[in-house]
This record gives sequence, C-alpha cells and structure tokens, in this order.
Amino acid sequence: MIVKSAEFICSNTQISKLPPPVKPEYAFIGRSNVGKSSLINMLTAKKGLAKTSQTPGKTQLINHFYINDNWYIVDLPGYGYARASKTEKAKWDKFIHNYLDKRESLQCVMVLVDSRLEPQKIDLEFCNWLGERGLSFVLVFTKADKQSSIKTDQNIAKFKKALLATFEESPQYFVTSSETQLGREEILAFIDNINNN
Ligand code: GTP
Ligand code: MG
Repeated sequence: MIVKSAEFICSNTQISKLPPPVKPEYAFIGRSNVGKSSLINMLTAKKGLAKTSQTPGKTQLINHFYINDNWYIVDLPGYGYARASKTEKAKWDKFIHNYLDKRESLQCVMVLVDSRLEPQKIDLEFCNWLGERGLSFVLVFTKADKQSSIKTDQNIAKFKKALLATFEESPQYFVTSSETQLGREEILAFIDNINNN
C-alpha cells in the first residue's frame, strides 16, 4: 500500500467523542516508550505526525490519524508507565479497555513489544486480556535496529513460547525498526489486505 495522505484528526479522552466508527481502524498499543508513535510516523512517512519522546508517558490521549481518506491509525497511551500513580493506572485500564471492548470499527490491535527484552509480564497479561475478549491482535516487535537479529529472534521465540501457555497458536508477528523502516511494507500490506476484504 502506498500512503498518499496521513492526517491528524483528533485527540480524545472520551469514547463518546471519537470519530464515527465507519472506517476500518487499527490501534497501536504497548508499554510506555516502546515506540508506538515512532512506528506510526515511520508507517505514514510523516516525521512529526505522532508526538514522540525519550520520556515515557508522552502519549496521554487517544489520537486518531486518517490514512488515505479511508482508514484510521490510533495512537494510544502506553501501559506500564512506572511513574504513574495507582489511580492513573486504573483510569488508563478502564479507558483503554472500554475503547477496545466497544469500538466496532476496530479491525486489529497492534501490540508493540520491545524486541530487546525478554518476555515481560505486563505484555503477556495484555495479550491474554485481548485473547479472553476474543479481540484479534498481532505482535509488532520494535527497535530491532538496536541489537543483532540473532538476539531479536531469540526474544521473539521466548515471547511466542510464553504465549503458548495460554494460546493454542502464536499470533502473527512483525519485526520493525522506525529507524531503518524494517517491517513497513509488511505491516502496510497486512492492513491493506484486511481493508480490502
Ligand atoms: P509513549 O507515548 O510515551 O507511550 O511512548 P511511545 O511508545 O509512543 O514511544 P515513542 O515513539 O515516543 O519512542 C520512545 C523513544 O524510543 C524515542 O526516543 C524514540 O526515538 C525511540 N525509538 C522508537 N522506535 C525506535 C526504533 O525503532 N529504533 C530506535 N533506535 N529508537 C526508537
Ligand atoms: Mg507515544
């Protein structure tokens, strides 16, 4: 797929104010600082589209970006931000879970996982929560440029193995780097395929 246009539409804290659920939508979610906003900029080839930061917790709202006047990318606040208070975390859980549960136009949840790390409990728990809800998701391993492909493959194998404790099959996955554009064509083709079916 060629991205001809990518436009910021709105930031929201209220589900009731989201754009009408009439276009296919893909939500990008994962631990705080995993590289969600950077990946969105890489996919759309628009550097400043989604705000990125070295400080975790940058994306606080649910942000809609309209692609090719046909489908949405949604940038969500990261989970597991260590410095968030208990109340803030609970608020995040409620809001995001509510969005994921209710959003009729949501086609697939893109779960971003840092490819440099061994399987993290919080990521596995989130995948399990999606599985329990019957929500379809794929894994997107980020920041692959930061280490050797051998190390990346080892961490992916461990993550898939950990998921097999609860899932019969491991989900589809992509290996990406927002620095080198690794995985860009694959993810866009995956989305294009769903949009056209
Ligand atoms: P929150 O909105 O705070 O949850 O973070 P986020 O998941 O949107 O992460 P963001 O895209 O802001 O990136 C966090 C940091 O990681 C930034 O300093 C990025 O430059 C860096 N980063 C993101 N993706 C990559 C990547 O593929 N390679 C490298 N080397 N750095 C990356
Ligand atoms: Mg962000």
